Parts: sequence; C-alpha cells; structure tokens
Amino acid sequence: MKKSEAKTRIAELSAELERHNYNYYVLNSPEITDFQYDLLMMELGELERRFPEYASSASPTAKVGSDIAPNAQFAQYPHKYPMLSLSNTYNIGEIEDFAERVSKGTSLPFTFSCELKFDGTAICLTYRNGTLFRALTRGDGTVGDDVTRNVLQIPSIPKKLKEGTGYPYEFEIRGEIYMPYKAFDKLNRQRELDEEPPFANPRNAASGSLKLLDPQAVKGRGLECTLYHLLTDEPVAPEHTQSLKIAASWGLPVSEHIRECSTIEEIEQYIAYWDTERKNLPFATDGIVIKVNQIPVQTSLGYTAKSPRWATAYKFKPEEALTKLVSIDYQVGRTGAITPVANLEPVQLSGTKVKRASLHNWEQMKLLDIHIGDYVYVEKGGEIIPKITRTAPEKRGFDIIPVEFPQNCPVCGTPLVKDEEEAKHFCPNSDFCPPQIKGKFIHFVGRKAMDINAGEATIEQLYNKCYIKVLSDLYTLTREQLLTLDKWKEKSADNFLKSLEESRKVPFERVLFALGIRYIGETTAKNLARTFGSVEAIASATKEELLATDEVGEKLAESIIGYFSDPQHIRLIEDLKSAGLRMESDKTAKIAESEILKGMTIVISGNFSISRDDMKALIERHSGKVGSGISANTTYMVAGEKSGPAKLAKAEKLGIKVITEEEFLEMIK
Ligand code: IVH
Repeated sequence: MKKSEAKTRIAELSAELERHNYNYYVLNSPEITDFQYDLLMMELGELERRFPEYASSASPTAKVGSDIAPNAQFAQYPHKYPMLSLSNTYNIGEIEDFAERVSKGTSLPFTFSCELKFDGTAICLTYRNGTLFRALTRGDGTVGDDVTRNVLQIPSIPKKLKEGTGYPYEFEIRGEIYMPYKAFDKLNRQRELDEEPPFANPRNAASGSLKLLDPQAVKGRGLECTLYHLLTDEPVAPEHTQSLKIAASWGLPVSEHIRECSTIEEIEQYIAYWDTERKNLPFATDGIVIKVNQIPVQTSLGYTAKSPRWATAYKFKPEEALTKLVSIDYQVGRTGAITPVANLEPVQLSGTKVKRASLHNWEQMKLLDIHIGDYVYVEKGGEIIPKITRTAPEKRGFDIIPVEFPQNCPVCGTPLVKDEEEAKHFCPNSDFCPPQIKGKFIHFVGRKAMDINAGEATIEQLYNKCYIKVLSDLYTLTREQLLTLDKWKEKSADNFLKSLEESRKVPFERVLFALGIRYIGETTAKNLARTFGSVEAIASATKEELLATDEVGEKLAESIIGYFSDPQHIRLIEDLKSAGLRMESDKTAKIAESEILKGMTIVISGNFSISRDDMKALIERHSGKVGSGISANTTYMVAGEKSGPAKLAKAEKLGIKVITEEEFLEMIK
C-alpha cells in the first residue's frame, strides 16, 4: 500500500470507528457486530504499525470509547485510577504472544487468572465506611457518569457491606452490569408492545438501562452485577484471585468461574471448555479474560494508554450458520409496520434449529443484495429472532430469483407507504387491516394496559367470529357469545367478564396507553395523563402544548393530533367512556404550574395545613414525584405535624434532607 493510500484509509477507519463508538457506547444501538468492529480496529492498528507517521494519540486504537451521555444528563466525576479497556484477540496464538511478553517483562514468578468476559457495561463502585458511596460508568476512562441512583436499584449490589469483615475505609471495585437473557427477552417483548425499538442485544439493554433518567424504571429491568477488579491503596492480598475472595467475604458479588492457570495449555483448556459451556449460562459472555494473577507483577508491567499490559481478552467468534433462503414472508405488525422475515432451510445454531430470520427492512435487503435461493449466514447475537448478516455470493446458483418489496399490504391489499426518515414500510389502513386490528386488541388487553383476561388465541377467535371490530365491542360481549368459543366453559366466560368489569377501574394513564396511539408508550401515557388530566384536554391540546410535555417530541405530537382528528376515534373514545372506562385522571391535575420540582422525589409525612392529598397534588403540579417511602432516591422529606419517627430516622440514616411545610412552600413559591 502506498503512503498516501494508507493516510486516507487511516483517516477513513478512524472516522468510521468514532461513529461506531458513539453508536455503541452512547446510543447503545450498534450498526455492526462486535466482530466487524474488532476487524476494523485491527485493520487500523495494523496500518498504524506499518505507517507510524500517521498514528496519533487521538486515534480510536489509542483511547477508550466514551459512554458519557449527551447534554450532561448525569453529574460527572473523575476516576481515581483510569478506567481502561482490554486488548483483545480472536486468535489463540496471540495469547501465547501475550504470555511471552509478560514473561519477558518480569523476573518474578507468575500465574494467570482466567475469567469469563461478561458482556455488559463496565461500572466502578466506590465504598466508603462500608456504604456504597458512588457508582461511575467508564465514561472516557478519566471521568465517568454518576449513575449511583440507578445502581442503588440493582438488588445484587449491596448498599452496605457485611459488618466486621475488615473492609478498608475506602476502596473501589469494578465490574460489569449485565442483563440476563430472561430479563432481556422480557424487556424487548414489552418494548415491542410499547412501540419502542427493541435493544439489539443484552449488552445494549444493560447500558441503556443504566443510563435511564428515572431510577424507578431501572428497578424493573432485572439488571445484575458481577465484580472483577478490586482497587485499594494498599493491596489486601498479593494475588488478584485472593483479593476477589476477600471482597466476596465483605458481601460483594464477585465474578464466578475463575480458574488459576500456570500454562498455556491450561488456558487453552479453559477457553475450550467455556466456548461450549457458556451457551448454558443464563447471561451473555463474549470471551475470556486472562490476567496476570500476582499484583506486584501487574504493577511492574503497567498500562498502555488504552489497556493494561497484564491482561488481555480472548474473544469468541460469534456463532454463525450457513443455509439457503427459501422464501420471504412480509409480516404486518400492530402499527402496520411491514417486517420481511426469511424462511430458511432449517439449520442448527447455538443449540436451536433456526428456520426463520429477520431481514429488518427493504434497505437492509438491498444492502445484503439478497435473492431467493441465495446462501446466507445467520447469526444469533442474543436477539430473539436470528438475523441474516451476509450472503455467500460465491455459492450462488442459477436458481436464484431477485426480490421485490411488495407494493401492497400482503393482508389487506392497501398500497404501502414509506416515510423518508422511517426505515420500514407501513400499511396505512390501520383501522381495517386485520392483523393491525387484532394487534390493537392484543395490546389493549395486555397486562400493562387494560389487563383483561384474554390472550392472542381468544382475540383471534373473537375476531374471526366477527364479535369484535372496534375496541369498544369488547364491552358489549355477552356470556352467550363467549360460550360459543372453542373450548370455553362457564368458568372461562365468567372469568373473562369479571376481568372486563375490573378493567373499568384501570386508571386513565393506562387507558390512554391501551388505545394504542402510535408512539404513546407507558411513560409518555403517564406524562400526558399527568399533564393534561383528561382525554378531552389531550384531544384539544395544540401541538405546542403537547410538545411542552415530558418526553413528547414532534413525531408523537403529530401522531396524537392525527389520531384525534379522525371522527371514528372520537366515537370510539365516547363508546369506551359510555362503557365506563376512565377517561380522566383521579386528581384533576391540569397542566403543570412549574417545573421547580422536576426530577425530584418527595416524601411527605404527618399532617399539614392543607390535606395530604392536596399536598401531593401540589408536588405533582410543580412536576415533582410523590414518593411512597424514604429511599436513597428521595430528594426531600417534607415533615408535617406528627410525622412518623421511623421515616425521620430512615431519612437521617440515608442523609435525606428533611424540610418543613413552610420551607417546602417557600421552594415552590
Ligand atoms: S478486567 C484494567 N475482567 O470487558 C482491566 N474486564 O472489552 C479491567 N469485562 O472494559 C478489565 N468481563 O468492561 C475485566 N472478567 C473481566 C471482564 C471484563 C468483562 C469488560 C470490561 C472491559 C471490557 C473490555
């Protein structure tokens, strides 16, 4: 390669990797697989070695990718010790090179600690006086985002260490926050119902969850933590594995499955074992970390700008399988989004037989240059449905057929539409296209919506019998009609009717969510209900008023206006209202008076000059949240007359500021 070519390619690769770093660490939405990313990084590293005149300390090969959230959403604090990354390889031979470098770099005896490489997001915990003091993300390696309030919601991370176990007054311990597959599947299923884009893999889900602005929302995400690096001013033991055992005795969740190895053969055995066995773990791992176990040897080897010289990672290649594309189905979702799904010749992949894979959208299909009859590679990478990563054009036969994206909805025949900025095609016939109608019912009866005792199969039957066409039809169903359903007996009919009755008590915010207005998820439904107080107020709100609501952007505001400008929807709302559904909030909270208390959680205790309900309404009118009990997330406790001594004691223990009613009123004046 010529010098000028190398210079151009280095600039290209650097820019590309910067972009991928941003997608991965900040947006939590990578466009390429880790493997493709590592290949680009390797190519850049290799070119910089050959043409050192073009290497710079600002290159992606020389610094860690930054996860700092934009707009200073979190406070930032410096790391006491830099928080670095790890060098990595997919090649066993390079592990031998690593061992050789270590051996040349020290005259002391050493062994290796082999550990799992957890595929989550790095966290640095500081404990002070036995209490969790601060949790920082890696950030740019020098400063990290303060996510303490969120970390306090992760059950496996102790807020307090075990008394009397001899922990130092202050120390740091680092590890990984990850999301087990089960929690990941649950979250993505819910996100699909809420019309939020699913996370590509558990790692993105974990780091996205850790950066949520509402700690309460983190609570239900099922995050876990495992810790793998203790940092104290004075080592607590001469070996890394011993220090982790000591940290475990303080009550910390340290990483399991560690094995001390003395030879390359033992390391290779460990790798071979976990390359298969990891598939039985309930969480994602992307490799093995090999660390020098003796802390004095670690210290003498030191660090490069990006990673320790005493550790490296061996990464597992993502599993893929080669198979033939038989046909493509075009599925119509609840929102009318068309998803192309590939039907494949069945092939074994990571323990399951794969027959179908997502092709995402037309853009993706064009990028893949896909033809029916092509050989394609499928990869799992943690997703619910596997994806096609590339084709094998060298295996292409003469029997291939070019693919054309359908112009009409495969179910109702309506011409499809595609907005410029949307990747997907849509069927606009939202009120009459059968899968869209059925999808709306399934969403409506869902647990987080109206919580009606009916699954997909029931909806399917009711729809096929023409008993339900619009949502309000559910409330006119009779016992006799229900008894005509396949396998339905008195008991199931009564249960269903009872849950219909119960659903009339569901609060307005959930009814609003249940309507399935495009882009209204659970949180936005809550915000809208809190801000406007009733469906009429939302329906008559101007775009500006809608945009002033928390988390409501252009697309959502337009969707709301579009929805309420359809007379059929107005009729539906009237029918649902007549059926007894709640179309206004309990508290007649109207548009927030101020945002003075935004982001604050306030707990009230005792009696005030106004009623407790009025006090709560006052907090909400100034955009605050009313907390039910004192926790680390409480911003203030407002203590009235006869306020509970237990609450006061807890507030004091957690260092929560207690204020009087007067002080509170002064605050919102
Ligand atoms: S040690 C200074 N051990 O992998 C060395 N890291 O790709 C610190 N990781 O940034 C890292 N499992 O977030 C270490 N058992 C393990 C790990 C581990 C996962 C992560 C960590 C690191 C990243 C590098």
